[in-house]
Amino acid sequence: MANISVLGAGGWGIAIAVLLNNNGHNVTIWSALQKEVDMLSSKRENEVSLPGITVSEKIKVTADLKEAITEKDIIILAVASSYIRSTAARLKGQIKDGQIIINVAKGIEDVTYMTMTDIIESEVENANVTVLSGPSHAEEVGRGLPTTCVVGAKTIETAQYIQNIFSSPVFRVYISPDILGIELGGALKNVIALAAGIADGLGYGDNTKAALITRGITEISRLGIAMGANKLTLYGLSGIGDLIVTCASMHSRNRRAGILIGKGATMKEAMKEVNMVVEGVYSTKSAVGLARKYHVNMPIIEAVNMILFEGLSAKDAVNELMLRDKTIEHPELLWDDINEA
Ligand SMILES: NC(=O)c1ccc[n+]([C@@H]2O[C@H](COP(=O)([O-])OP(=O)(O)OC[C@H]3O[C@@H](n4cnc5c(N)ncnc54)[C@H](O)[C@@H]3O)[C@@H](O)[C@H]2O)c1
Repeated sequence: MANISVLGAGGWGIAIAVLLNNNGHNVTIWSALQKEVDMLSSKRENEVSLPGITVSEKIKVTADLKEAITEKDIIILAVASSYIRSTAARLKGQIKDGQIIINVAKGIEDVTYMTMTDIIESEVENANVTVLSGPSHAEEVGRGLPTTCVVGAKTIETAQYIQNIFSSPVFRVYISPDILGIELGGALKNVIALAAGIADGLGYGDNTKAALITRGITEISRLGIAMGANKLTLYGLSGIGDLIVTCASMHSRNRRAGILIGKGATMKEAMKEVNMVVEGVYSTKSAVGLARKYHVNMPIIEAVNMILFEGLSAKDAVNELMLRDKTIEHPELLWDDINEA
């Protein structure tokens, strides 16, 4: 049994806390938002982010960060990605050697283009930072529906330790050394989910969705490989796996925002209507910046950027994508490669 704190009490923080409590661990949930702490303490439920999922009385709820992190084996950062830096900064000087931090937020920081684990490491000097990601909607994990994720850590021992903590009959955890690949897949799929939503909003069909998922993962892996991630990771749970679930599910706020934009809403109107942080909007800017920095061609992500920030109509963006220069599906697979095989 481990002592675990979950920092962040939105849908994902609650679902993780419920899972770990069911696994027999001592779980504490902390939130920076007093209203969340009050709601959880009095109703044992986050009625806004994860209605219908009960937070057991065994799970401690606190607004006191020091209390939340003292004598914990594992500290899970489950705040929205835009609050990872400010939350990590509050942990500076507080983390003891041996405590493990798990990032579960998905994003790339605007301007610095840093991943969430990079941010945490830059703020908390002695941190042993790991990541857990994959196709895992809180609404389904909270209900105990079978789910798989992957944990990335610097050593196999740390990865296996976390694997054992999370694993259950309804939550299967794989491990990987590729922290960067896991993080990039999780952040960039949100941009493609916006595109998939836009296509749905325009009334397009399953063919379009499949094209966006397939060409989307091609773009994500191009950038990931240029940045040092492994292609296998991008075609695994935290890459294509998370991309499929996000593009297909109404649980995805990125897809829901995209649908509204496809139907004619502006980015700001869509974000207001979804009424939650739409992380893909921020990751779009970072992805475009990274594509330019690493000289990688990412036409779908560029098109989403033009729709969100430069006023291009969704329909015109699709036309431009369809009528781009004709090309080979995989430039690394040419006729000689097949003929020689
Ligand atoms: N919801 C899911 O199904 C799911 C699944 C996997 C990963 N994730 C990732 O986990 C992260 C959290 O997701 P979520 O759905 O719980 O998000 P959310 O937007 O519901 O919750 C974010 C939480 O951040 C915290 N927060 C808000 N303002 C804050 C502030 N100023 N300072 C510190 N903390 C603040 C609050 O506790 C809030 O509940 C995201 O990065 C998301 O991509 C979500």
